[in-house]
Amino acid sequence: MTEKKQTNIKKTLKGYSEAFQKDGTPIPVNFRTLVPELKKAERFTHLIHSYPAKLLTNIPYYFLATDILCPKNGIVLDPFCGTGTVLLEAVLSGRNAWGADSNPLAEAITKVKTNFIPKKELEETLTVLLKQAKQVTVNRQYPDAITAWFAPSTLKQLSALQTVINDLTNERQKAFFALCFSSVVRKVSFADPSISVPVHWNPERFSANPCRMEEVRNKLQQLQNVNVIMKYETICKANIDRVESLNGRIEEGVTASVISKDARQLGIPDESVDMILTSPPYAGAQKYIRASWLNLYWLNLVKLEDIKELKKHNIGREDYRKGEVYECYSEIEAADKVLKELYANGYKERAFLVANYLNEMKVALDESCRVLKTGGHMVIVIGNNTVCKRQFDTQDYLTSYLVDKGMHLQYKLIDDIKSYGLMTKRNKTANTISREWILVFKK
Ligand SMILES: C[S@@+](CC[C@H](N)C(=O)[O-])C[C@H]1O[C@@H](n2cnc3c(N)ncnc32)[C@H](O)[C@@H]1O
Repeated sequence: MTEKKQTNIKKTLKGYSEAFQKDGTPIPVNFRTLVPELKKAERFTHLIHSYPAKLLTNIPYYFLATDILCPKNGIVLDPFCGTGTVLLEAVLSGRNAWGADSNPLAEAITKVKTNFIPKKELEETLTVLLKQAKQVTVNRQYPDAITAWFAPSTLKQLSALQTVINDLTNERQKAFFALCFSSVVRKVSFADPSISVPVHWNPERFSANPCRMEEVRNKLQQLQNVNVIMKYETICKANIDRVESLNGRIEEGVTASVISKDARQLGIPDESVDMILTSPPYAGAQKYIRASWLNLYWLNLVKLEDIKELKKHNIGREDYRKGEVYECYSEIEAADKVLKELYANGYKERAFLVANYLNEMKVALDESCRVLKTGGHMVIVIGNNTVCKRQFDTQDYLTSYLVDKGMHLQYKLIDDIKSYGLMTKRNKTANTISREWILVFKK
């Protein structure tokens, strides 16, 4: 980035702060136009693997472009790092980066995304892998929960690929080729690609559109005889190029690491990070584990029987058993007013879900405040919700919690929403999270 551009960003950020301190009005912004040089979605390894509700790259790129919010060689933390969007932008900006995420798939993506491996090395291994995968025959039995999603010949090819990838001894390469394998799994399954959570592709869904219905029927037919190994090769080649684009772009000694599986327990010392930049989950809008369970299974990251348990670590989850639900509150005054009304109107489960979300977020925010250096900045990207048709101002509740804890609110920005990927149908139709809030605090 040119010096002129950096000076402009510094001026703009100072301007936001001054304007907000005057009257406390949130400032409308558009991160797409603020960073016009990032017009293309493809940037380094950001698109190496799909994942729901990724953060717009422009946001970390913009905030890390100057030393206003983080010193040049400071440490950046994203306690809800997902696929490592923040971590990658941090290392590209010359800073070390730490992340945490409860979804093992997110951790796997982050690790590969932020690691350079020379193209020649990967190409040589790919040639060997493809040859071996064509020769090996594996006769493995799969549970019905898995066979239901793939044609028999697809299962055989996936099995062969999985075996030869597992045999790799170079761990960095193994992580790369396993992640490419994970990408192919969803593509060759019977899951509807337009829905983030695996749902069987059903042509009848398109009965009002005969052309689309026919198209889906044909696609399902093709999936009976798909050349998985060829598809895998295509994905690997594209990803090898993505990794190659990192060549020489990450300074010697600058690294990104996933340090924890839980934002509530980071396991790092007090006051050890210079900046926190994160987009936490929304209440009830995310189904990260449900969206990734097929990938997690094929990557051997979770056993089918352990998926339920894994979901429990996910903040913002929706699936509570009836017996778990009770009338609980968050001790955030404005939120509790809404919760009270919800309980009074019989919306016990929804109220419990969001109260629990806020209570879990409070613990995560406590942990973030603990590890942030005094004088360090915390940037949170979050939207609002409606719960049972009532406005639920998550950003406002989290702000008041942090301010009560002694964090100094510098400014609030508002941008249009980027992705509806993981919202439930209910949230979509209620047109809920329509804007994203960017909250900037100083400790
Ligand atoms: C909005 S996404 C983050 C997306 C990320 N910024 C990206 O660009 O890929 C929120 C993430 O929070 C994670 N998460 C949920 N509960 C968590 C917890 N207790 N600790 C850490 N991460 C958690 C989810 O797995 C999900 O990846």
